[in-house]
Amino acid sequence: MTDRPAVTPSAPGACPQRRAFLAAVPGVVLLPGVLSACGITQPAQPVSTEQATTTVPSTTIPAAEIPVGTATSVKAGDATVIVAQPTEGEFVAYSARCTHQGGIVQVVQDLHLRCPLHGAEFDGATGENTSAPAPRPLDVVPVSESDGQLTLG
Ligand code: FES
Repeated sequence: MTDRPAVTPSAPGACPQRRAFLAAVPGVVLLPGVLSACGITQPAQPVSTEQATTTVPSTTIPAAEIPVGTATSVKAGDATVIVAQPTEGEFVAYSARCTHQGGIVQVVQDLHLRCPLHGAEFDGATGENTSAPAPRPLDVVPVSESDGQLTLG
């Protein structure tokens, strides 16, 4: 006979993996609160999947550096911005900071973007997240075009 305390397997907020493991061990009864040591808790609020807008230090680049159907990484102060021209004369820009855990998204080819940290992919035309684990699109960066110059920020 062990002197382990009795634990219920349905402790709210408990680590599901630890709860499942302990519940499968014969003779183990789970008590609420015992599993909180695993440090995993449920988020209090659902994570937004909406596309946000952010600003960067004002930066100007020649529009000719962004051919139609491509995206390019541009530095704007300390920020990295993905600037794209999906169709003739339509310029869009997104923060390169991945919406998963902040990796810097890179241009793979044309309008195909990928985060090197965990492999999330994004559409350079819209900023939409097209594969996990990114939970939402890249943040929009305002961009305007005048006399062949693009102004970010
Ligand atoms: S930080 Fe980009 S996929 Fe994880």
